[in-house]
Amino acid sequence: MLRIEGLNQYYGGSHILRDVDLDVQEGRANCLMGRNGMGKTTLLKCIMGLVPIRGGRILFRDRDISQLKPHERGRLGLGYVPQGREIFPQLTVEENLRVPLASKRSAGIPERVYELFPVLRDMRRRRGGDLSGGQQQQLAIGRALVLNPEILLLDEPIEGIQPNIVKEISEVIRRLNREQGITILLVEQKLPFARATADRFDIINNGNVVASGEMDELGDDLIAEHLTV
Ligand SMILES: Nc1ncnc2c1ncn2[C@@H]1O[C@H](COP(=O)(O)OP(=O)(O)OP(=O)(O)O)[C@@H](O)[C@H]1O
Ligand SMILES: [Mg+2]
Repeated sequence: MLRIEGLNQYYGGSHILRDVDLDVQEGRANCLMGRNGMGKTTLLKCIMGLVPIRGGRILFRDRDISQLKPHERGRLGLGYVPQGREIFPQLTVEENLRVPLASKRSAGIPERVYELFPVLRDMRRRRGGDLSGGQQQQLAIGRALVLNPEILLLDEPIEGIQPNIVKEISEVIRRLNREQGITILLVEQKLPFARATADRFDIINNGNVVASGEMDELGDDLIAEHLTV
């Protein structure tokens, strides 16, 4: 469904992503793993068109999307939950959820967003900045669902979140994958959360994908070499 071929990316003179190949199959829940600063966020930003790339292709349903603008990729079916959530603290919950709908005034917030996260309905008139970290994460995921994505990219969604919400976030991602058929590309460093949530892994090291497989094949040697435990 999403295929990346020979992707290279630079920040100024720094070569960050090096000949990255990645294949995300429809219906799967993939986890992109790797230590701090290895290029995980940069790769998601490339997929969404938020940073320019230098060489390589990004194919979504066999179409090269690498020249499309971020909002065009969103309309095609790519949803994105950025690292650090990036909700608008001054806007209400409902206004935050409406942000992706800006160009479609008549469209409403899909009911399933409130079904998945009832707290967002209860707090819809509150300012985003008044929500707890866990509630803000639910808002960030809800906002990404508003345009009915076929694939959802989530960047470290449990960073800075209370343990009791962590399990809930994992269950929501699994439900989106299993019950609603949304393909998942999760970025996560924490092994228990990755194992509970995803069924495949890819490991990125210094801007290069060095290992991939089924989650139950992720062995101790790879964990010791590439992950923080
Ligand atoms: N805007 C930027 N300008 C210059 N360098 C950047 C920029 N953003 C990230 N980098 C550098 O690119 C490399 C990859 O960063 P990236 O944020 O993609 O890593 P990451 O794997 O997501 O790390 P983390 O787990 O800490 O979120 C790092 O060396 C980082 O310092
Ligand atoms: Mg990151």
